[in-house]
Amino acid sequence: MNKELVLDSQTIQNRTREMGQEIDRDYQGKELLVIGVLKGAFIFMADLVRAISTPLATDFIQVSSYAGSSSSGNINLVASPSHPIKGCHVLLVEDIIDTGLTMQWLVEHFSEQGAASVRICSLIDKAERREHQINIDYLGFTIPNGFLVGYGLDFDEKYRNLPEIYHLTP
Ligand code: PRP
Repeated sequence: MNKELVLDSQTIQNRTREMGQEIDRDYQGKELLVIGVLKGAFIFMADLVRAISTPLATDFIQVSSYAGSSSSGNINLVASPSHPIKGCHVLLVEDIIDTGLTMQWLVEHFSEQGAASVRICSLIDKAERREHQINIDYLGFTIPNGFLVGYGLDFDEKYRNLPEIYHLTP
């Protein structure tokens, strides 16, 4: 496997700080429940919440839809947040949105649970592969096709610890 650098650490940090400011502007006077989508979002979420000044609580949800590098087309709820959802302003944090299947399911899931609002923050959008229409409220980068690893993104659970994001090629 070869890897080619796509986003360096400084570029990710700079954009993350800007996204934190955008979120602060939009949520003035409100409190946030920031929910990271495990596992991929854990590193981005850690940096993002430190770029937000709005009062917030954090939680996580784990869903899975992929086996290896291809989508199974189904969502499995692996672990639910422990924080109550009703009446909360939920900000969903993702590392990457690909077909949109996961995020479409999550927005519906939290709306059904009575969230006061549900917004989406994703570090990366692979818009070319979208199959399910969703609106990304806060977006870091749009990146065309290619298999990405690093900064939370994995291939068979490896590479999540890399501080940068790379294209993985055979
Ligand atoms: C990745 C990513 C999103 C999902 C996006 O998670 O973190 O949750 O795929 O794909 P979609 O838009 O086609 O639904 P993955 O299932 O690989 O699990 P992981 O976060 O544990 O790596």
